Amino acid sequence: MGAWTLDDIPWDRFDRTKLDPELVRIVKAASLVEHNGAAYAHHLCRVFADDPEFQRTAQRWGEEEVQHGAALARWASLADPEFDFAAAFARFQEGFRVDFDSARSRRGSRSGEMVARCVVEIGTSSYYTALREAAAEPVLAEICRRIAADELRHYRLFYKNLERCLAQERLGRFGRLRVALGRVAESEDDELAYAYYAANEDDRPYDRRRCSRAYARRAFALYRPHHVERGVAMLLKAVGLTPNGRLGVVASRLAWRALRYRAARLARLPHAA
Ligand SMILES: [Fe+2]
Ligand SMILES: [Fe+2]
Repeated sequence: MGAWTLDDIPWDRFDRTKLDPELVRIVKAASLVEHNGAAYAHHLCRVFADDPEFQRTAQRWGEEEVQHGAALARWASLADPEFDFAAAFARFQEGFRVDFDSARSRRGSRSGEMVARCVVEIGTSSYYTALREAAAEPVLAEICRRIAADELRHYRLFYKNLERCLAQERLGRFGRLRVALGRVAESEDDELAYAYYAANEDDRPYDRRRCSRAYARRAFALYRPHHVERGVAMLLKAVGLTPNGRLGVVASRLAWRALRYRAARLARLPHAA
C-alpha cells in the first residue's frame, strides 16, 4: 500500500457549502477508473511474467491506484449520498472491457508499455494537481494533493523500469514518441467516457461522443499553462528528448494552444450532459 491510508484523510473537515457539482461528476468518474487499477496491475504482471521483482512493484502500484479510487469514492458519497459506488463500478466493468489477461502489451514491447504507463501517470499527476488547485472543498483538495504526489512517484517508477527495458530492447526515440502520442490520443477513447457514463447516468443509453465531451468539457477547464508545461517536459523525458530548452518551450506552447482551443470549443457546445 502507499504511504497513506483512508484514515489519514481529514473527513471531518468536509464542507458541503464549498461543493462544485461539476467537480463531483468528474470525481465520481475518476473513482471508477482508479479503482480498476487492480485489473491493469494484473495485465502488467502478465506482460512481465518472468520478472517477479517488477511484478511485486506492479502489484503495489495497483493497490495504490485502488486506494485512490476508494478515497475518491468515499468523498463522492459524502458529496452526493445517492452515489452508489458499487453499482456504478459494476456498470463500468460490464461496459468497459479490455483483455487485461493478455500477456502481450498493446504497445508492441515492454519498453512501449512503460512509455504508455508514463503517459498515463503524467496525465493523472497533472489532472489531480489541476483538480486540487480548482477544488474549494478542503477534503477533496487534500485527497488530490496526496493522489498527485503518488502519481508523480508512479511516473518515476515506470520511467526507471523503462530505462531498464531499453537496455534490453531496441525502441528508438521515434518509436517511443509514436507510442506516447498514441496513448495521449486514446484519452478520448472509451475508458473515461464510459466511466463518466457509469458514474453519472442511468437514464439513457451510452453515447461515446456525448459522454467523452461531457467529461472533457469539465476536465479541460481545470488546466492552466503550468500544468501543461510540466506534463510536456515529463513526456519529452520519457521519449528520450531534452525537456528543457527550445523544444520544450515550443512543444508546451503548442500543447497549451491545442488544449485551450479544444476547451473553448467544448465550452461553447450546447448543454453536453
Ligand atoms: Fe491513481
Ligand atoms: Fe498512478
